[in-house]
Amino acid sequence: MILSHITAMSQNRVIGTQNTLPWNIPEDMKFFRNKTKGHIMIMGRKTFESLGPKPLPNRFHIVISRQELSSADPAVKYVQNLQEALAIAKKLIPQWGEEVFIVGGGEIYSQSIDIVDKIYLTVIHQNFEGDTYYPEVPLDKFILSDKLDKTIPLPFSFLTYVRKV
Ligand SMILES: NC(=O)c1ccc[n+]([C@@H]2O[C@H](COP(=O)([O-])OP(=O)(O)OC[C@H]3O[C@@H](n4cnc5c(N)ncnc54)[C@H](OP(=O)(O)O)[C@@H]3O)[C@@H](O)[C@H]2O)c1
Repeated sequence: MILSHITAMSQNRVIGTQNTLPWNIPEDMKFFRNKTKGHIMIMGRKTFESLGPKPLPNRFHIVISRQELSSADPAVKYVQNLQEALAIAKKLIPQWGEEVFIVGGGEIYSQSIDIVDKIYLTVIHQNFEGDTYYPEVPLDKFILSDKLDKTIPLPFSFLTYVRKV
């Protein structure tokens, strides 16, 4: 399994406000859709709710909650902790592929940053107000393997970090 974070954060590390994204960057949304299409996504219950009434097509959603929740949708599975999420993801790899994406939010990123192999980090080069943050990346443990600068609709960069072996 390759375990990856995929996230977009502002210069001041904000990733969310009132359970939505603080910005609208179409190219970043496209990047997210292309990367996660056909894959397993692990997320916290609040992030799942922020997706809207329906799960995203062509992805398997593993949703972490302390509550006993269930879904009739075959592409959604609720679990009660990250360990359970990873065990289920492992079983589904033959069907959904080797790379498993942790897609947020702040709580789940913080709880998994020490175990991820890869981080797709979109950095927006301005400050935003918000209530949810991405944790500090332990830069001594990762190598920046890719960087692509963009300017539309505002300056941002696609960064890829890979854990040192
Ligand atoms: N910019 C980005 O890339 C990005 C990506 C994703 C999300 N976001 C934003 O991030 C915000 C949501 O993040 P968040 O930190 O508030 O919430 P979250 O991480 O999405 O979900 C938090 C919920 O997950 C469950 N949970 C967390 N830790 C758990 C554990 N150890 N065991 C069992 N359940 C656990 C709990 O659900 P229960 O309360 O049901 O028990 C908790 O309330 C939104 O604003 C969203 O738009 C941004």
